[in-house]
Amino acid sequence: MARRAAEYRAAGRRIIDLTLGEPDFAPPVHAVAAAQRAAARPMGYTPANGIPELRRAARHALERDRALSYSDAEVAVGCGAKQVIFNAFFATLRPGDEVIIPAPYRAGYPDMVRLCGAVPVIVPCSTESGFRLSPDALAAAVTDRTRWVVLNAPGNPSGATCNHDLLVALAEVLRRHPSTLILSDEIYAHIRYRAGEYVSIAHAAPDLRERILLVDGVSKAYAMTGWRVGWGFGPPDLIHRITAVQTHNCTQTSTVSQIAAVAALRGPQDLLAERRETYRRRRDAGLAILKRSRHLDTVEPDGAFYLFPRLAAGDDLAAADALLEAGCATVPGSAFGAPGHLRLSFATDLSTVEEGCRIIVATLEGVSA
Ligand SMILES: Cc1ncc(COP(=O)(O)O)c(C=O)c1O
Repeated sequence: MARRAAEYRAAGRRIIDLTLGEPDFAPPVHAVAAAQRAAARPMGYTPANGIPELRRAARHALERDRALSYSDAEVAVGCGAKQVIFNAFFATLRPGDEVIIPAPYRAGYPDMVRLCGAVPVIVPCSTESGFRLSPDALAAAVTDRTRWVVLNAPGNPSGATCNHDLLVALAEVLRRHPSTLILSDEIYAHIRYRAGEYVSIAHAAPDLRERILLVDGVSKAYAMTGWRVGWGFGPPDLIHRITAVQTHNCTQTSTVSQIAAVAALRGPQDLLAERRETYRRRRDAGLAILKRSRHLDTVEPDGAFYLFPRLAAGDDLAAADALLEAGCATVPGSAFGAPGHLRLSFATDLSTVEEGCRIIVATLEGVSA
């Protein structure tokens, strides 16, 4: 849809783009300055799992922000969270293994699983459940072949978070399946709108630590998607295997980017709260407009930067087409395993969010905005 929106624009049409999956902010100035200094020096390969300074900075940031501590042997750095996840799947999945992916899911997880010869098992999570995986649904989906369960909170595209009690209940199910690993994709942990600390499955079930891969990176929190730096915390054996895969595909992520990521993690952190408030204003403004429509049912997202309304009727692909024709680009929910929904990104300025939401409401009402 982003590509089609760009084509329409190139043809002179005015299109409001709500498809973006990345922050519209600049990277922190101190990260850019560190990269500029580094780029002027001779720059060689680094260890496959990242420079020691980055592993240390990532560990310290996790301790500072989420009170979880890991040793140096428990961190792997890759070209974004995505590559760490792919490496983990590639290192552990065998043909016929199953990976439980609650839907709506981040587009890409099922294909990664299939690329590794394994089978994605999609577990739908309803609007009514706030898009949260229930312990019963998890218990019904786990089999002897389940190698991984994917958790992603705040979720893309739902923005849903999991509270402590839910994570405890999910962990209770997973304790009965000791060969199942748990991927906790926490890339949006800093973009949350409810008060209180972030709760990870690593907090709720410390006894499962040896089975958890906690993934994070600089893409969303620090608006550094294109710099390609992410990391995973997990048991040393898994980290070792992830690093082995990393070594044989792209060696390491960019050295300059790693140095910039260290600066982002160690530098002033006030921009995280400032940006969160900007996202919150956009979320509230978009939500207020969407709530006026009887054609949409929109759950208030707890985090990330997406609204994920359900259409009262009709299919999402046709709706996204009609909306594009009306001047607003959105992503159909089918891309995330949730037909009947639309994903609207508010990682764009307030007036764009408002205008886009007005076009959506008016178009669904059958009136031209
Ligand atoms: C849930 C989730 N995980 C991971 C990623 C990828 O992050 P990275 O840029 O660090 O690869 C994204 C990006 O859209 C995402 O939404």
